[in-house]
Amino acid sequence: MRLPLVLLLLVAVASGRSAERPLPEVIRDSFATAAKQYEWLLPRLPADGSLPRTFEHGKLVTTTARDWTRGFFPGSLWYLFEATGEKRWRQEAERFTALLESDQHNNWTHDVGFILNCSYGNGLRLTGNPAYRPVLLNGARALSTRFSPAVGSLLSWNPRNGWKFPVIVDNMMNLELLLWAAREQPDGPFREIAVRHADTTLANHFRPDGSSVHVVDYDPATGRVVTRVTHQGVADDSAWARGQAWGLYGYVVMYRETKDPRYLAQARKIAAFIMNHPRLPADKVPYWDFDDPRIPNAPRDTSAAAIICSALLELRTFVPAEEAARYAAFAEAQLRSLASPAYLAETGANGGFILMHATGNHPKNSEVDTPLNYGDYYFLEALLRARALK
Ligand code: GLY
Repeated sequence: MRLPLVLLLLVAVASGRSAERPLPEVIRDSFATAAKQYEWLLPRLPADGSLPRTFEHGKLVTTTARDWTRGFFPGSLWYLFEATGEKRWRQEAERFTALLESDQHNNWTHDVGFILNCSYGNGLRLTGNPAYRPVLLNGARALSTRFSPAVGSLLSWNPRNGWKFPVIVDNMMNLELLLWAAREQPDGPFREIAVRHADTTLANHFRPDGSSVHVVDYDPATGRVVTRVTHQGVADDSAWARGQAWGLYGYVVMYRETKDPRYLAQARKIAAFIMNHPRLPADKVPYWDFDDPRIPNAPRDTSAAAIICSALLELRTFVPAEEAARYAAFAEAQLRSLASPAYLAETGANGGFILMHATGNHPKNSEVDTPLNYGDYYFLEALLRARALK
C-alpha cells in the first residue's frame, strides 16, 4: 500500500504543479493571515495620527508629517474591506484615511498622488462617499502645480543634491490621480499633464533594454537633460528593482487610461526585461537591484515583487491570450512565493506587517531586509487582482 503512495508523491513533485495548493486557497489563506496581522497591529499603533511604515532594529517605525508612504496603510485597510466585505475594516480605513485630508493641498511633493490615490481613491471607489471626491480633485490640482511646460514633466523632488529639476521614474505612479481627475473633469489640464509627463519619461528614463535609470535631472529653463543618475540603486547604470516595478506599473496605468499603444509597448518591454532577467531568482522575488555585484548574497525586495505582480495581473488584461497566460503564470509564481513562509509573516512577527524582506533605501542602509507598508499594499492589491482572474 505504501509504494503507490510514494510513487504518486514523486510524480506529483516531478510534475510540479499538481503538488501545489489551488491558487484560490492560497489567496484566501493569505487574506486571512493579512487580516490577523493588521488586527494585531492596530491596537499597538500610537494614537498621534502617525501611520505604520516599517519595523526596523526591533522597533515599529511610524511616518513623519511629510512621509511619502502615508497613503499605503489606509489603502491596505481599504483592500481588506474589499477582500472581506467586513464593516470593521471599512471603519478603520475611514479613520486612517481622514488623517490625510490636509494632503489635498500638498504641493510640495509629487507623492501626493500615492498619498491620496491609495487612501481617498480606494475609499471613493469602494464606498462612493461624495466627500472624498473634492479631496482627490484638490490633490490633483496641487500635483498639477508641479508641472513645467518647459520640461514637459512634473517636478518629483524639490531641488536638492545640486539637481534643479529632478524627475524620478517612481513619479509615473502619481499619474493615476491625474488620470482619475481627467475623467472627472475632461476639460481640465490633468490628462495633458499626465501624458506629457509619461512621454518625457519615456524619452529620457529608459535604456534600449527596457530598464530605467532612477533620476533624470533637467535644466528647468530649457528642458535639456543635465544628468542621469541613481539615488536608490547600486549604480547610475544599474536596474534598481523597485524603479523597474514603478515604471512597469506606471505604463500599464497609462495604457489603461489612454489606450495609446506606445504605453502598452513600453509596459511589455519592461515586463520582458524583468521576467527574462538572468539574475532574477527562481522564486521571482527580485534582489533589491538587478546589478548588485553581491548577488546571490544581496537582499531581496518583496515590495518590488508585489508591485510587479500586481502590474502584470493588469497587463494581462490588455494582451492576446498566449501573452496574457505568460504574465498570469509569472504573477501566480510570485504570489505563491510571497504567500509562502519565506516571505509572509506569522501573526505578531515582523512588527505586525504582512510581508517580510523588502528593501527601502539600500545606499543609505535604511530599511534593508525589513517590511514596508507599500509592500503590504501592493501584495493585497495583487491578491485581489488574482482573485478576480478568470
Ligand atoms: N518612491 C520611493 C521609493 O520607491 O522608495
